Amino acid sequence: MKVLITGGAGFLGRRLATKLLERGALKDADGNEHAIEQLVLVDMVAQPVPFADARARQLVGDISDPKFLTSVIDADTDSIFHLAAIVSGQAEADFELGMRINVDASRRLLDACRSLGHCPRLVFASSVAVYGGELPVLVLDNAPITPQSSYGMQKAVVELFINDYTRKGFIDGRVLRLPTICVRPGKPNAAASSFASGIIREPLNGETAICPVGENTRLWLLSPQTAIESLLFGHDIAAEALGTNRIINLQGRSLTIAEMVAALEKSLVRKWSSEFNGRATHASNASCRPGPVSWTQRAHARSDFRATSTSMR
Ligand SMILES: NC(=O)c1ccc[n+]([C@@H]2O[C@H](COP(=O)([O-])OP(=O)(O)OC[C@H]3O[C@@H](n4cnc5c(N)ncnc54)[C@H](O)[C@@H]3O)[C@@H](O)[C@H]2O)c1
Repeated sequence: MKVLITGGAGFLGRRLATKLLERGALKDADGNEHAIEQLVLVDMVAQPVPFADARARQLVGDISDPKFLTSVIDADTDSIFHLAAIVSGQAEADFELGMRINVDASRRLLDACRSLGHCPRLVFASSVAVYGGELPVLVLDNAPITPQSSYGMQKAVVELFINDYTRKGFIDGRVLRLPTICVRPGKPNAAASSFASGIIREPLNGETAICPVGENTRLWLLSPQTAIESLLFGHDIAAEALGTNRIINLQGRSLTIAEMVAALEKSLVRKWSSEFNGRATHASNASCRPGPVSWTQRAHARSDFRATSTSMR
């Protein structure tokens, strides 16, 4: 089968591609597994390191360009993971761009699927940003949506498209509302929730992170691994199990900033003590003591972490 990922060079797109190549198969509408013969990775940017796998092919281009879009979706395309998006902070700052990519290009992509005539399976990465304000402890799939950002509204619009294109038999759609995926490696991105990863990632790298919200702020979080497993599960689940509403809220962990900081603190202390024990054993065997550089680095990391904890309160 031929599988396409939009946003294939992104944080989740690249991880999904790796997992798909590893797994090697996906289910079809009858629940039968089929080998993935082609994996097409579509993105505006090239893969930082191209996949060394004959099944993977990268196509660099803009999905809002109709010519490019129709050139990447063809009669052989069986399944699509639609992950390309303008993330929350940028969609808020540039309304026109968010509408063009998150809404207009998504609709064009759905129409390209419709024109295939064979009802491809499509998994859409939506977001819990379709909700706004205070949320109850348990948020069911059918809880009223109240987006308070342009990004959340744009995701909600595409969710409705997908339900209707599915009802019409144009696609076999599945919408997964992703919570904040944490920890995202690398540099901070333009998502409004970027700090959720930053407050863990930066201190682990010995850097200071600034947290823009109070310590009692509660976040809905999911690990990258579980997010990828969920996208695959969302693809393979039988249509009958979903019914007419194809929208699923992904489960996650509900943690306050204070709880995240406490967990980080615990894991850093564990890391430092195991490093110290390792070094102490090594040092006594070799009859020498740990060098001054590593102690200085550790002292820096500790003081950065304290500064971080303080600036988050
Ligand atoms: N990561 C999260 O915490 C999170 C949470 C909720 C929802 N989501 C959704 O999951 C999806 C993937 O998220 P991510 O964290 O991997 O984002 P990401 O920004 O890392 O990846 C998105 C990719 O889409 C590409 N892209 C953007 N516009 C494009 C265009 N016009 N044409 C082609 N490619 C384009 C970007 O170059 C980027 O590589 C997105 O739809 C996002 O809205 C992510």
